[in-house]
Amino acid sequence: MNPDQLRARLEFYRDLGFESIYRRTPLHAAQAAVLPVIELERPALPKLEPEDDSLDKILIEIGDCRRCRLCEQRSTIVFGSGNPRSALVFVGEGPGADEDEQGLPFVGRAGQLLTQMIDNTAAREGLPIRRSDVYICNVVKCRPPENRTPLPDEMDICGQFLYRQLLSIRPKAICALGSTAMKALLNSKEGITKSRGRWHKWRDIPVMVTYHPSYLLRQYNQQAKREAWEDLKTLLHYVYD
Ligand code: URA
Repeated sequence: MNPDQLRARLEFYRDLGFESIYRRTPLHAAQAAVLPVIELERPALPKLEPEDDSLDKILIEIGDCRRCRLCEQRSTIVFGSGNPRSALVFVGEGPGADEDEQGLPFVGRAGQLLTQMIDNTAAREGLPIRRSDVYICNVVKCRPPENRTPLPDEMDICGQFLYRQLLSIRPKAICALGSTAMKALLNSKEGITKSRGRWHKWRDIPVMVTYHPSYLLRQYNQQAKREAWEDLKTLLHYVYD
């Protein structure tokens, strides 16, 4: 098979939703050396979503999930909380210790900050919404050990559920909190400082990227705090004006 045929074959499998393909028999070094390196772009969008999906169906399908190693140390799966018909969805990275214990997203220190940010910004801007009016979830639903960043395969596996949550809610806008959420939603190689404060798109839904509340909790981040408040103002006015 020549490189063009090989590429076409790989693209065919990628479009079917396959993310990785492996050889059963290892290549000899000499064979490996002559094989071209073919890089396929990671698909930004998984292609297959069930029709008539709902948050309840997704939750049932997640079940007592054992699809990746994050199941080994979690106490509770943290699916999401808030208004399932919300016009706005916030996406974080993954549960921390408090969330793992309570089964709810953003209930620890970062969560308290997020609540204040939403409630206070909306109140100051004269917008009639509170945290309980929006929907909040994470890229991965199980706590990564020591709160480490989720690994690419964990994000891929759990990402399918995040995408289904978003498609089932169909919000007017999404807020990606931090770079893990940004990476999960946007096929972008930019850093968070460049991407924040601007509109992007996931499928046809506008996405505002901003800093993760945990980052804002660090004391030296006064400038980042000001920027995050500006991002939130833009987002809330877009969704609720
Ligand atoms: N950080 C997150 O990204 N998500 C949570 O739910 C809590 C902290």
